[in-house]
Amino acid sequence: MQARRSESRFLRALAGEVLARPPFWLMRQAGRYLPEYRAVRASVPGFLDLCLSPKLAAEVTLQPIRRFDMDAAIVFSDILMIPHGLGQLVAFREGPVLEPVRTAADIGRLTLAGFSQRLEPVYETLRLVRAALPMTCGLIGFAGSPWTVATYMVEGKTSRDFAAVKSWAFTNGQEFQSLIDLLVEATARHLIAQAGAGADALQLFDTWAGVLPESFARRFVLAPTRAIVARVKDACPDVPIIGFPRGLGALYRDYALETGVDAVSLDTSVPIGWAAREIQAHRCVQGNLDPQVLVAGGETMRNETLRIVAGFADGPFVFNLGHGILPETPPEHVAELARLLRENG
Ligand code: CP3
Repeated sequence: MQARRSESRFLRALAGEVLARPPFWLMRQAGRYLPEYRAVRASVPGFLDLCLSPKLAAEVTLQPIRRFDMDAAIVFSDILMIPHGLGQLVAFREGPVLEPVRTAADIGRLTLAGFSQRLEPVYETLRLVRAALPMTCGLIGFAGSPWTVATYMVEGKTSRDFAAVKSWAFTNGQEFQSLIDLLVEATARHLIAQAGAGADALQLFDTWAGVLPESFARRFVLAPTRAIVARVKDACPDVPIIGFPRGLGALYRDYALETGVDAVSLDTSVPIGWAAREIQAHRCVQGNLDPQVLVAGGETMRNETLRIVAGFADGPFVFNLGHGILPETPPEHVAELARLLRENG
């Protein structure tokens, strides 16, 4: 059974309610900064094996909730599950390694046939987690956005300059668009299936939204997001969607107002006063503590946290980081942050 909106502070905030004390969760809250995660990770040969083992994936999803009692759990999976589901070879060594997609023929070899079956372990993980979670704790399903996932599919790894994917998008936009269109379809299916398996809310991670010039950002970030949100809202109108277009700068406002998302996750560099006026007046916002501030801890963490909570006190707000938690984060700092958020606000 899904969390009831009335009992979940996380879902109430996403629905637009202004709460005296903000709910919180942390992007990438399951992961290497936790010794119990590293122990489970060491028991399987590869990272993908962990993502595709529902019992283990459910266990690591629950680990941060047990320690820190966040208001939401995020299913343990990865944004590169979509290329895996489409039949692209995906592996994780130091970072992700994919067999690059560079031509129309490469796109032609990707297939939606068998997509849902290949991703079935993710849906089973969600069912296991939902059954183990209290009704007060939300469960988040997620996907990468088409542009961000395409950067990995085309570059074959985490890129510094995005030369291959930009060259394709800028010289043969129509051909590249067919990859984006395929990803819109796959992403919508994946999100709808996660909602069906028990996700109470969905987040779209657009880690590399900020590397495109405006016209291309509108075409390859905002438009595909709008298409996915429309598809998902059609199938599951009651499941809120959070968008995280990292680095989008002044375009954050148009993203928030034009794509149909229910909430926007702010990266660390977005000014709080600006976001409160321009975005939070219309949509729930989430964010945006610098992950390095969480590593630093102490007075800086306290001051930054209170500044963010005070700055977003007048509208719907979910406390989070501005990007994923770093592996070197001391777990005691996360415990201290959780205490601070319960005592203040
Ligand atoms: O938030 C959570 O706790 C749920 C799990 C989650 C993971 N990845 C697990 C993971 C989520 C939500 C993601 C999202 C993700 N994956 C993003 C978007 C968010 C962001 O941080 O920008 C991106 C770009 C990826 C792709 C990816 N996965 C990369 C580039 C890497 C290697 C670099 C790194 O952070 O390690 C991964 C691997 C990965 N995904 C790990 C985890 C816990 C570490 C691998 C390991 O434990 O061996």
